[in-house]
Amino acid sequence: MSPLFARPIVFPVIDSTNRYVAEQARDGAPEGLVAVADLQTEGRGRQGRTWVADAGSSLLCSMLFRPNLGVEDFHFLLTIVGLAAHRVVEELTGVTCEMKWPNDLLIDGKKVSGLLGEVVALAKGYALVVGIGINLCWEEGFPPSEGDEELVTLAERATTLAIVSGERFDRDDVLTRMLSSIEIDYSRLTDPAVRMEIMNRYRSACGTIGKNVRVEMAEESFEGMAIGVSERGALIVQTLGEIRELDAADVIHLRTTTMPTSSAP
Ligand code: BTN
Repeated sequence: MSPLFARPIVFPVIDSTNRYVAEQARDGAPEGLVAVADLQTEGRGRQGRTWVADAGSSLLCSMLFRPNLGVEDFHFLLTIVGLAAHRVVEELTGVTCEMKWPNDLLIDGKKVSGLLGEVVALAKGYALVVGIGINLCWEEGFPPSEGDEELVTLAERATTLAIVSGERFDRDDVLTRMLSSIEIDYSRLTDPAVRMEIMNRYRSACGTIGKNVRVEMAEESFEGMAIGVSERGALIVQTLGEIRELDAADVIHLRTTTMPTSSAP
């Protein structure tokens, strides 16, 4: 186990490891706190969604950072966690995995992992909780093919490491490998050259770049081509009329190969 993330706390059941770690952050817990759950009853996803995972099917964990960085640079932490997960998934499965902006992991176009960063305001400064879910192995019959709409959608849009590789991976081994990889990048993050190298690694892994995408935000949605990711982690999208930089949005990869010809309101 890596020195920073020395002693993960494992919960058989908890509402959300992100919620727990954020609470601990407010109570003064040290950087490097890691909470792992066999099951979450209120797993949190991006954009206010829920994260659903059957008991024991996934790596569900959250880690606490108290970075010596401005909040505007906190995205680097999500990037290094996403890259660590990407590396471990490819190493273990031998299967190509792509990152979907900002930090989903897709295999064969299906989601195998998602990341949620939550900034915690403290009396002085900010901490960051980064939570990750990696689908390892679903039991027979999960997710169901009919009934609960959310679960049915999960079956259509998500996959597991077991499905793509035919192997069952040990959760704690996946966690240990991932934490070691995160720690290496984290210890070098104050060096601007390292940050640049991290962003370049991210761009190489990011399958969103070069794809036509549909961008969905609370107040608008539009289509365009993703042409890059900026140093601050924003997705750069070329639409018919302009180039836009997105800090946060839902992005859907489109199958079209030509530039979309119309943008929807
Ligand atoms: C996403 O929507 O893609 C992000 C999902 C993040 C899920 C993980 S599971 C462990 C941690 N605890 C939570 O409540 N959420 C994150």
